[in-house]
Amino acid sequence: MKITVIGTGYVGLVSGVCFSEFGFDVICVDNNVAKISALQKGDIPLYEPGLDKLLLKNIQAGRLSFTSDSKESAREANIVFIAVGTPSKDDGSADLSYVYQAVNELADSINRDAALVIKSTVPVGTTRAIKNFLLDQGVKLDVVFNPEFLKEGEAIKDFMHPDRVILGVESERAKEILSHAYRPLYVFNIPIVFTSLETAELSKYASNAFLAMKVTFINEVANLCECCGADVKQVALAMGLDKRIGDQFLQAGPGYGGSCFPKDTSALENFANKLGVAMPLLNETIRSNGIRRKKMVEKILQACDCDLKGKNISVLGVTFKADTDDMRDSPSIDIVGELLERGARVKIYDPSFSEQAKRIFCNVVWSQNAYDNCNDADAVVIITDWSEFKALNLKELRNRVRNPLLVDLRSMYPVSEVEASGFTYCSVGRGFEKLESFDA
Ligand code: UGA
Repeated sequence: MKITVIGTGYVGLVSGVCFSEFGFDVICVDNNVAKISALQKGDIPLYEPGLDKLLLKNIQAGRLSFTSDSKESAREANIVFIAVGTPSKDDGSADLSYVYQAVNELADSINRDAALVIKSTVPVGTTRAIKNFLLDQGVKLDVVFNPEFLKEGEAIKDFMHPDRVILGVESERAKEILSHAYRPLYVFNIPIVFTSLETAELSKYASNAFLAMKVTFINEVANLCECCGADVKQVALAMGLDKRIGDQFLQAGPGYGGSCFPKDTSALENFANKLGVAMPLLNETIRSNGIRRKKMVEKILQACDCDLKGKNISVLGVTFKADTDDMRDSPSIDIVGELLERGARVKIYDPSFSEQAKRIFCNVVWSQNAYDNCNDADAVVIITDWSEFKALNLKELRNRVRNPLLVDLRSMYPVSEVEASGFTYCSVGRGFEKLESFDA
């Protein structure tokens, strides 16, 4: 089977590499020539654990190649995946120009027996509109929608061992071609669900919106915990043990960010508005997540006696979550921005050494490791839940800081452990802990 993947962003590159690992011949295409020549040498433009090794392995095996020539790449393909970006426009709706540009470029060269598969996240109705757009040009193709459910940082595992594969298809032939492409997942009995185009499109948005709502819900429960003496980690554990609820996406924190939840919740809201369908839970999720960042700033401010002027703040982690260098819509952008605005002197250590982050925060000092970052700090603030922050040597840290205050926006430590090391601990959703610390 020959597979072409248009777009070497996150989804396209991971999908292309993983399909080649399944043993298929894969060509990945991007109109960014510099990116393509880097990829040909095995240099990947993003941070995803394990992806570099898999990419090199499959290039060397002759199953994976890269080109900027989308027309040529599509001539012999059995499947062409479109995995280009669909960024948010100012009104929250999805910008489909890259998708249509890619479709347009392929139209006259694509093998007429191929299935054209949209993997980019697109509003309901888009796949059918693309099918009709091609028909208008005299190109009759099987057009399929196949949403991706990859999480950054765990994308290879998510691709190789997904919970499910959703395929919006309209013909038996397309079903057959796609079944063949996902046939390697048969070993793990992964459910493959065939639906209409519209159902598959909505499944993607509904899944992300639901997860965003789950995160937002636990963040609101955390607020309640802080006022009533309960512990949000234990509440989440108690809730999650109920199989109907499940234990994932119940970690309270600084609010969701990234390239997907904020964009997809806004696009779904925009779509529902256009149809005149009320979705108050979704509206409130978006609003509540926006407020969350301000609340985190207040938390830091209160812990620092409401004055940040001239204070040294050591920030640990700025990417939107661990195991990525992605800064898109990271809560840290607003939080650190506000700390600077209020006169704090900010030092940052992030294990990804994200270039995006360095471009965003230009007037901060960057450190090479967490400990150096904490030298002379008046407060240490953990924003991202990187593994290496889970077991910091707090005694060592205590010797380096000027004032032993740890504000942990991911609640990564038992309260007693941090306090035993001499720190005042201010975390998320652990009742009365702040009041006790202030009393001490
Ligand atoms: C998300 C979905 O999880 C994927 O299934 C989907 O394929 C992807 O979007 C996409 O549409 O492309 P991702 O954006 O990589 O994946 O990140 P998540 O792991 O879902 O985290 C999103 C945000 O929620 C992060 O800011 C994270 O810190 C936050 N989060 C997540 C919490 O605050 N608490 C949790 O318990 C889980």
